[in-house]
Amino acid sequence: MTRLKNDNFLRALKRQPVDRQPIWIMRQAGRYLPEYRETRAKAGSFLALCKTPELACEVTLQPLARFDLDAAIVFSDILTVPDAMGLELYFAENEGPRFMRSLKNEADIRQLSVPDPEVELRYVMDTIRLIQHELKGRLPLIGFAGSPWTVACYMLEGGSSKKQFDNIRRMAYENPPLLTHLLEILTQATIHYLNAQIQSGVDAVMLFDTWGGLLSPTQYEAFSLRYMQKITEACGTTPTIIFTKNAGLNLAGIAESGCSGVGVDWTMPLDLAKTITQGKVAIQGNLDPLALFAPEITLHHDIEQILKTMKNYPGFIFNLGHGILPNTPPEKVAYLVDTVHGC
Ligand code: CP3
Repeated sequence: MTRLKNDNFLRALKRQPVDRQPIWIMRQAGRYLPEYRETRAKAGSFLALCKTPELACEVTLQPLARFDLDAAIVFSDILTVPDAMGLELYFAENEGPRFMRSLKNEADIRQLSVPDPEVELRYVMDTIRLIQHELKGRLPLIGFAGSPWTVACYMLEGGSSKKQFDNIRRMAYENPPLLTHLLEILTQATIHYLNAQIQSGVDAVMLFDTWGGLLSPTQYEAFSLRYMQKITEACGTTPTIIFTKNAGLNLAGIAESGCSGVGVDWTMPLDLAKTITQGKVAIQGNLDPLALFAPEITLHHDIEQILKTMKNYPGFIFNLGHGILPNTPPEKVAYLVDTVHGC
């Protein structure tokens, strides 16, 4: 592997000393950047953007040209995996993601098979190779996938949920063997997908478990963490981050799962996160994305609080507690990144 010019993110993830406090931002390439909106318009749609490696590479690099960030993240989506499994993803205007074919019955689930990432998801691998060519070892590149639980939430709902993904939560009680079958297939698909990303050149991988927090603690272990653990184990020596939104006290189990780092959302106090995870993992988080709408003085205070709590912690990565919002002023992001590096 080529030596990176700025490997602070990877060092923090391995809980090694850093030259400066690393920071990156979930959804750092996104609609809050006018240049992103322009490239998306050129592509025609969000999905066309994901599926055109040259343009996906271009938007991956856009936030790095503006801000002094410490990592890049591949521009893609967690729902490309069910798309590759034949569900056909599309994005309806102001409606979020939808599938042409959602999973309606047992037969739909039983006929699913594991896609070949070098075939059905080749565009992601081509994007990774292009990004690495352009980065020239400047920064580490993060690959990612959704957790099997979170991806299954969308597959059984047909898209985003107006409620709390009741279809899958009901199946967890009514037909746990069928749900387990679906989660096993998604686990295999994700293992192949992430290993292909690693082969193509990503330096670390992150699992997005946005909806794991909907589960009871027992169900969280059985239907989400168990599969994420299998996936992180299958990633070998590549560092891994598990981010369950609203993980709460489940952070203890995540810290014991063998991952390198845990993502923490803004509802969890960081000193409590430290206590719960007992120094076993790196910690990534957790500024409220809405804090970027506050006046600079408030934002400064919130950033300082986080840095103060995590001072001298071996393995802290600054991030937001969830993805950056579309109307966020880019100047505030510049202020955030510079403040984190300057403090
Ligand atoms: O962080 C990055 O910059 C990498 C890119 C990335 C995207 N989606 C691009 C995207 C990543 C890591 C994701 C993950 C993702 N996708 C998650 C997990 C993280 C989270 O936010 O909870 C989920 C649940 C999805 C599914 C998804 N994709 C939804 C629900 C939506 C619509 C909601 C929204 O924000 O509009 C998307 C669309 C999406 N994925 C956009 C981007 C930049 C916006 C699409 C657009 O340009 O119109």
